[in-house]
Amino acid sequence: MVVIHRMKDPIQLAERAAEFIREQAQKAITRHGRFDLVLSGGSTPEATYQSLMAGGDVEWPSVYLYWGDERCVPPTDAASNFRMADRALISSVPVPEEHIFRIHGEDDPQAAAEAYQRVLETRFADEGQPRFDLVLLGLGPEAHTASLFPGTLALKEEGRWVVPNYVDKLTSWRVTLTPAAINSALQVLFLVQGKEKAPAVRQVLEGDRNPIQWPAQMIQPTDGTAHWFLDEEAASLLRNH
Ligand code: 6PG
Repeated sequence: MVVIHRMKDPIQLAERAAEFIREQAQKAITRHGRFDLVLSGGSTPEATYQSLMAGGDVEWPSVYLYWGDERCVPPTDAASNFRMADRALISSVPVPEEHIFRIHGEDDPQAAAEAYQRVLETRFADEGQPRFDLVLLGLGPEAHTASLFPGTLALKEEGRWVVPNYVDKLTSWRVTLTPAAINSALQVLFLVQGKEKAPAVRQVLEGDRNPIQWPAQMIQPTDGTAHWFLDEEAASLLRNH
């Protein structure tokens, strides 16, 4: 199922997204005693993380943090998705260290992916699939999400939950959750803002189906809901939503 949420501007998007995440945390902790949250990289989520940190009302000791993807750089590197989340949120909230499962971007990509696969297999041994309570995602202008870029090998992966992925366009390696891993989630939340994303939003939600070219089209939770939090600029080309 897909649910579109239109927000006035990036400030309202961050505030409403933080409220949504708080609500999902409360529901998950009530339901099964923990909140398995996958954080997104990129720049859009930063304001949401800051709003989440400032807003209180989250039972942080029951939260477990994962990442949807990571750049193959050390956690101290300015490009690190872990570093962004740590500065905007994690360093200011009482999530136990042992609940933070970062992708080791400083390691060889294949080794880092295999290690993260093992982490997820251990964390979700009972479920047999990475049944995250909520996965946060962004959207690139060419409709990539996580590090699932158009035409890359990760799009074809069906067995593994985590793979290394070489991105020609960026001439760099990434480690990313696969579509199957993301689609195992109960809830997915896309956070998308800005006019430059409007064509990709329209293509993914209303265009012809071509997931190799528009990878975010691959994100359709098997037994869950995909929520799209869009500001008016990002939603401006939608015709049927
Ligand atoms: C990354 C992200 C990536 C990001 C989009 C949007 O590692 O860069 O996982 O998928 O969400 O590129 O990025 P912005 O929010 O910066 O536009």
